[in-house]
Amino acid sequence: MRLSNCHNFHDFRELARRRLPGPIFNYIDGAADDEVTHRRNTTSFERCDLVPNVLRGVESVDMSVTVMGQKLATPFYCSPTALQRLFHHDGERAVAAAASKFGTMFGVSSLGTVAVEELRKAYDTPQVYQFYFHKDRSLNRAMLQRAKTAGVNVMMLTVDSITGGNRERDLRTGFSIPFRLTLGGMLEFARRPAWGVNYMTHERFRMPQLDEHMDMSGGAMSIGRYFTEMLDPAMNWEDVAEMVRLWDGQFCLKGVMSVEDAMRAAEIGCTGIVLSNHGGRQLDGSRAAFDQLAEIVDSVGDRIDVIMDGGVQRGTHVLKALSLGAKAVGIGRYYLYPLAAAGQAGVERALGLLRAEVERGMKLMGCTSVRQLTRDNLRFR
Ligand SMILES: Cc1cc2nc3c(=O)[nH]c(=O)nc-3n(C[C@H](O)[C@H](O)[C@H](O)COP(=O)(O)O)c2cc1C
Repeated sequence: MRLSNCHNFHDFRELARRRLPGPIFNYIDGAADDEVTHRRNTTSFERCDLVPNVLRGVESVDMSVTVMGQKLATPFYCSPTALQRLFHHDGERAVAAAASKFGTMFGVSSLGTVAVEELRKAYDTPQVYQFYFHKDRSLNRAMLQRAKTAGVNVMMLTVDSITGGNRERDLRTGFSIPFRLTLGGMLEFARRPAWGVNYMTHERFRMPQLDEHMDMSGGAMSIGRYFTEMLDPAMNWEDVAEMVRLWDGQFCLKGVMSVEDAMRAAEIGCTGIVLSNHGGRQLDGSRAAFDQLAEIVDSVGDRIDVIMDGGVQRGTHVLKALSLGAKAVGIGRYYLYPLAAAGQAGVERALGLLRAEVERGMKLMGCTSVRQLTRDNLRFR
């Protein structure tokens, strides 16, 4: 199976499965507890149908959107994800390069493996910095300042990870950073020697967003310990309001799901919220972002930009979310599998297919601009 044989999400996933050691594939593919929310994220799009209009003259289609002050050529962007150089040695460099070719935004995680400054200098497409809130307030201030100096466009505070999700696949394989694999996990690595050769022959694995502030490198601090010891479970609305003031720019909360929280986010000056359940990796049994979207758009959509992510695998999923009022849609695994399978070429192929699907879908819907996608185009079953 080759990249050129990949025509959709499932093909990329299969290619990634064949190329990655089992523990790494399962880290990407897995979710919390019984993975119910993870599955529902995609099936929720099937709750409604698109109602097309015809004979509207759709020879050219404008897919661009403006979200949190950023103009994106496509209504989807690459949501921040951790550890990308573990999936492919180019990691964030490949994703940023591909996002920039498509004129869209990409996110860099606090647990990212390429420095935010390097990416900012290399590409001028809008960049999100995904932040976790630490107990040490001076560390938070220093990291915000660093992102500001680097020229990050949007600060995205993840609020759904106050404690780690129960990812049972990772418990079984022993996946952790630094590696502490079970015997079965080690055998899985032995079955994918090409991955090992790549990993050993490229630049050392680092987490530069954190390395500067704590020793994550030589295994001194594991990600598990980072979450339990460094992050602040007492984080509250006052803390975030202070961060919003300090940042003094585009600021969004990732992982808001309730109307009450969405209104609070607007009150404290956030310019956006991302409805998200972290790809089903945190609270299993929580609602799919798409199911919750209309309610949130109705309550705060006129005050802040409402974005959603989770389960997006098709252009028509993007169209349905936009029709309900989302300003843009984040993708996660949709670009991670092709990254793992084929680096930048993989991500470019995936973004190209999704863009073509959105464009084709808009034409078939009789829409020449994203603004024409409304709830009139949808019927719920
Ligand atoms: C392997 C992996 C790592 C992730 N790392 C982060 C992270 O570091 N910070 C964060 O806020 N979200 C993280 N996410 C969540 C994504 O940003 C996004 O919310 C989610 O992947 C969307 O669901 P989807 O994968 O079904 O598209 C991660 C997701 C995956 C699959």
